[in-house]
Amino acid sequence: MKEGELVHLIDKKGKRYQISLKADSSFSFTRGTISHDDIIGLEEGSAVKSSLGENLLVLRPTLAEYISKMRKGSQIIYPKDIAAILMLADIFPGAKVLEAGTGSGALTMALLRAVGSDGEVVSYERRNEFLEIARKNIDTFFGKVESAGGSGKLVFKDKDVYEDIEEKELDRIILDLPEPWRVLNHVEESLRNGGILLCYNPTVLQIYKLSKRLELKYAKSFRVMGIYEVGLREWEIKGRSMRPEHRMIAHTGFIFVARKCSSPDS
Ligand SMILES: C[S@@+](CC[C@H](N)C(=O)[O-])C[C@H]1O[C@@H](n2cnc3c(N)ncnc32)[C@H](O)[C@@H]1O
Repeated sequence: MKEGELVHLIDKKGKRYQISLKADSSFSFTRGTISHDDIIGLEEGSAVKSSLGENLLVLRPTLAEYISKMRKGSQIIYPKDIAAILMLADIFPGAKVLEAGTGSGALTMALLRAVGSDGEVVSYERRNEFLEIARKNIDTFFGKVESAGGSGKLVFKDKDVYEDIEEKELDRIILDLPEPWRVLNHVEESLRNGGILLCYNPTVLQIYKLSKRLELKYAKSFRVMGIYEVGLREWEIKGRSMRPEHRMIAHTGFIFVARKCSSPDS
């Protein structure tokens, strides 16, 4: 583990503490104090002992773990849905993807990883304070990735996507905002043929309105490919107890997928 790295310290019960490693600093919690210097130089997966004798596991957080801990401005998309979105929108290395709105940047991070160094993510957000939160979240996890000039891997735009999409020939457009039907005219212009539009919305009324608008106004440009909901149930396996967890994240959102086609009726 190196100075500057983000680390999760995990106790026996699974409680996590997130720290950024800094020489000459220390971390205090109810079970004692740990010097960062005791962690710097350790191999990931080792344990570190607090001043009160508590052992904590030292691991770099996965993206899903980091997303659960990071600062949230807006409601984020949960990792279970992000996983499905990456597959249903078929995000591939080298893809040019537009998302709106950025929110806290949870989906942005997963998109960035999936498009890789040859791809590009353009992220529209109309509330500047959320862009700032997302920027900090992303910088903390990846280091600074944004290119101010607009030609880099991640481009933030402080813009209302209902008004316009400037980019053309996009491979994928992902919308996580309240009225996706208000973006359809821009999506029609900006998505390449064969490109995928994916919308994420919490209520079925939003999905209904979106599909109706597509059917009535954009039937010549889009074919709906599917509407999905993701359920992920964790299990507890402890000694002789093997059963589903009592609690689970139930409904979060619907995933709506359409493709732009020149002959969607064929
Ligand atoms: C639910 S949040 C997005 C969360 C994000 N996907 C994440 O995983 O962190 C919705 C965001 O869309 C933004 N938004 C709503 N309407 C918008 C618009 N017309 N143009 C750009 N952003 C918009 C909101 O300000 C809010 O930050």
